Amino acid sequence: MNILLLGSGGREHALAWKLRQSPSLRGTLYAAPGNPGIAEEAELVALDVTDHGAVIAFCQARAIGLVVIGPEAPLVDGLSDALRAAGVPVFGPSKAAAQLEGSKGFTKDLCARAGIPTAGYVRTASLEDARAALARFAAPYVLKADGLAAGKGVVIAETLADAEAALADMFGGSFGAAGAEVVIEEFMVGEEASFFALTDGTAILPFGSAQDHKRVGDGDVGPNTGGMGAYSPAPVLTQALQAEVIEKIIRPTIASMADAGTPYSGVLFAGLMLTAEGPKLIEYNARFGDPECQVLMMRFEGDLAAVMLACATGTLAPGQPMGWNPETALTVVMAAEGYPGTPEKGGAVALGESEADGAKVFHAGTALQDGALVANGGRVLNVTATGANVTEAQAKAYAAVDKIDFA
Ligand code: AMP
Ligand code: GLY
Repeated sequence: MNILLLGSGGREHALAWKLRQSPSLRGTLYAAPGNPGIAEEAELVALDVTDHGAVIAFCQARAIGLVVIGPEAPLVDGLSDALRAAGVPVFGPSKAAAQLEGSKGFTKDLCARAGIPTAGYVRTASLEDARAALARFAAPYVLKADGLAAGKGVVIAETLADAEAALADMFGGSFGAAGAEVVIEEFMVGEEASFFALTDGTAILPFGSAQDHKRVGDGDVGPNTGGMGAYSPAPVLTQALQAEVIEKIIRPTIASMADAGTPYSGVLFAGLMLTAEGPKLIEYNARFGDPECQVLMMRFEGDLAAVMLACATGTLAPGQPMGWNPETALTVVMAAEGYPGTPEKGGAVALGESEADGAKVFHAGTALQDGALVANGGRVLNVTATGANVTEAQAKAYAAVDKIDFA
């Protein structure tokens, strides 16, 4: 089977690395657009993922047996629907099912209908409605642009005045069309953790847990980012809590999507708050997390291509045995100066002997300039290692970071 992987970040490098080790690949792994790290695992091709016809033509010409879609934008844009209509198996949900990530209001309404534990909420479609709705909540106010906003569409306002100002910004277009609707939520208190499940629309296969680190600076300081590091598993998500999450959150979600005639397939990434009343859903993503995927792939020992194909073709066996390294995996994101604002590009990157002691360096934002590796984005490298526990994995990851020469 030939496989086409779409995306260009550290998440996709980790997926490429693991797909490459899959016994059921038995063909060529293509990636578009990829990056220099992915190029070590796959044949890079130039494809415009917004041109669905071009992607389909490529798949037909190269006998692609599975397309793996890494990021959310092509999912919300309906690429998987176009491919499925053309008979190409796809790992990733349909446009209708990807609304679980693409519309916060859609997900909150589904939770309300299915009795899924989550924060109380109101959907608002105008500044006037939103300001009036604030009276039903107490500080801190949680305000969310409804649509995709590259992880930046959530504001937690400490005072009513800050909340009103943030609402004015959102309805004023600071998040573009994503802010045409705003969800206002109750503030939840607890520890956050992420849980991943694979599904073919019916069967559910738990696929591990992780916790990420959102602020840019060491010591949990500075602005929020897409994620500066992660580890897996999340010790706080015990077996008992995972079982509760599956029964109270994941299973009713998959069942509701199927009942609505829009079955969800692919990976469902649940952001959870572990509150005093039990786990509650913060949000869903319709794809793997970045950098959570890197630590999951570091631990996963099964045949990734086979299990993704089973999700794509409705043949996932829920009890399918899959190997996981019981150790903890931890990844440290090395970012360019300026991130999460405007990162500096073009700085030389020398990986040296960073992988000598079992660490793995995933490329997130690199490019080749005259044959030399340079920084080409905010998050540049994901330096990943395993250890007996978080502390040991962290020490190994930082030991590898120290061998990398990158300003
Ligand atoms: P989201 O993009 O929905 O995951 O939200 C981003 C971050 O905002 C989450 O990771 C939480 O830290 C925080 N957050 C979102 N919703 C809530 C909530 N209802 N209560 C408390 N914190 C929240
Ligand atoms: N690291 C969080 C995300 O991928 O959404």
